[in-house]
Amino acid sequence: MSSTLFRTKKVEQSILDTEEPEHALKKSLSALDLTVFGVGVIIGTGIFVLTGTVAKNNAGPATALAFVAAGVACALAALCYAEFASTVPVAGSAYTFSYASLGELSAWIIGWDLVLEFALGTAVVAVGWSGYIQSLMDNAGWAMPAALGSREGSDVFGFDLLAAALVLVLTGILVLGMKLSARITSIVVAIKVTVVLVVIIAGAFLIKGENYDPFIPKEQPVEAGASLDSPLIQLMFGWAPSNFGVMGIFTAASVVFFAFIGFDVVATAAEETRNPQRDMPRGILGSLFICTALYVAVSIVVTGMQHYSRLSVDAPLADAFKATGHPWYAGFISFGAAVGLTTVCMILLLGQTRVFFAMSRDGLLPRFFSRVHPRFKTPHRPTILLGVVIAILAGFTPLTELAALVNIGTLFAFVVVAIGVVILRRTRPDLPRSFRTPWVPVIPILSVCASLWLMINLPAETWVRFGIWMAAGFVVYFLYGRTHSRLAKGEETRPEQTL
Ligand code: ALA
Repeated sequence: MSSTLFRTKKVEQSILDTEEPEHALKKSLSALDLTVFGVGVIIGTGIFVLTGTVAKNNAGPATALAFVAAGVACALAALCYAEFASTVPVAGSAYTFSYASLGELSAWIIGWDLVLEFALGTAVVAVGWSGYIQSLMDNAGWAMPAALGSREGSDVFGFDLLAAALVLVLTGILVLGMKLSARITSIVVAIKVTVVLVVIIAGAFLIKGENYDPFIPKEQPVEAGASLDSPLIQLMFGWAPSNFGVMGIFTAASVVFFAFIGFDVVATAAEETRNPQRDMPRGILGSLFICTALYVAVSIVVTGMQHYSRLSVDAPLADAFKATGHPWYAGFISFGAAVGLTTVCMILLLGQTRVFFAMSRDGLLPRFFSRVHPRFKTPHRPTILLGVVIAILAGFTPLTELAALVNIGTLFAFVVVAIGVVILRRTRPDLPRSFRTPWVPVIPILSVCASLWLMINLPAETWVRFGIWMAAGFVVYFLYGRTHSRLAKGEETRPEQTL
C-alpha cells in the first residue's frame, strides 16, 4: 500500500494531460498579465484591514517589521514556487507540483489544503468588501437592513447579502472566460494601486514623529485563561502569554501574512500562460516585490499619522485620514478599497476552481468536474459549485478568526513546495527548468523554517481547526481518491490521444 501512496505522476504526463482537447484551458496570459493578476490578488484585506488590527493589538509602529518578516518568508517560498511553476506548467499550483515530486498522498493533502485556503480566503475578502460598501452607503445616507448586513456583534439572524452576491457575480464572470476577467482585473488593479500610492504620498505629509515612540512597544502580559487563543509557540515553551515586544512582531507577521497570499495563486494559472517557462517566475517575483514595498510604506505612514493605540480596526487607512481632518481622502480610500477587494475575491475564487479542476482531472475527485465548457473553455462545473458554496459561507459565517486558518493552510503548502523542489532536483535532474531556485538546498530549507516559524506563531486554536480539516481530507482520499485516481487505474494520456 505504501507504494500507492507515494506513486508520483510524471511531469511529462502532467503536461500531456493539459493537451487533451476536452480538458484543455486556453493559453492566453503574458508575464504582464500575470504580474497584474498577482498584484490584483495580493493587495487586499491584509493591508486595508489587518494593518490596523495588528498595529493596535500586537506590534504598534513595528508592524512595518512584521510585513518585512512575512515578506521574507514569502520571498523564500516564491523562489521555490517559481522553479516548480516553470518546470510543471499545468493548472493546480502546489497540488500539481507535489504530485510530480512527493507522491499522490502528499498531492492530495496539499490540494485539500489549498481548497480550504482559497475558499475561506474568498469568503473573508467578500465580507471585507461588503463592509467597505456598507460604509460607503452609510456616507450616502443609505443603510442595509440589519439582517442583510454584517453579522458580527448583531443579535438578529443575519445573512450578508452583499458578500454572497459579490461571490455569485464573480462566479458568472469566471465561467464566461479567463480573458474577460483578466481585462477587468487590470482596470481594478490600477485603481487599487493608485489608492495605495495616495495613502503613502498624502499620508507622508501628515506623519508626526512622536507617534513612532516607542517604535517597538513594551511587552504586555495578556489575561490567562484564553490559552487556545495564544500563539502555539507560547504554549509550547510555557511562556506567559503576551502582546507587543519582539515576539509581538512575529505574532503580527503570522497574521499580516494574509496580505501576501496570492502570489502562489499566480502559479495556478501556469496552464493558461503563453510562455510559462519564462513568464511564470517573472510574474510571481515581480508582483511579490511590488507588494512588499507598498506594504512597508503604508504601515510606516499610517502608524506615523495616528498613534497605534487609536488606529481603527475596521478601516484603518481611511480612518487615519479622518482622524487627521481629511474626510475627502477617507472616502476616496474606502471607494478604492471596495473596488480593489473585488479582484482579490475573483482571483482567489479562480485559484480555487483551478485546483479543484486539476484534482478532478486526475480522478482524485469525480471526473465530472473537469470537463471544460465547449464554448468558453473554462471549468464551469467546479466554478459554479464552489461559487455557490463560498457565497453561502460568506453570507452566514463570522470570519474574523478564519483568516488565521487561511494562513496556516497556505504556510503548510509552502513547506511542501520547498521540500518538493529539493526532491525533484534529485529524482528528475534532467527536466528543463527555465528558473532555478538559487542555492538549493539552502533556500528551500530556509523557506521551510520561515514558514514553520510563522505557523507556530499562530493561535493553538487555529492548529486544532486545521487538524480537523486535514483529518476529513484523509477520510475522503481513502474512501474515494485512492481507488479512482487515474494513475491508480493506469489511465495515462498517450501522445497520439492529444493529436
Ligand atoms: N492577500 C490578499 C488580501 O490581503 C488575500 O486580501
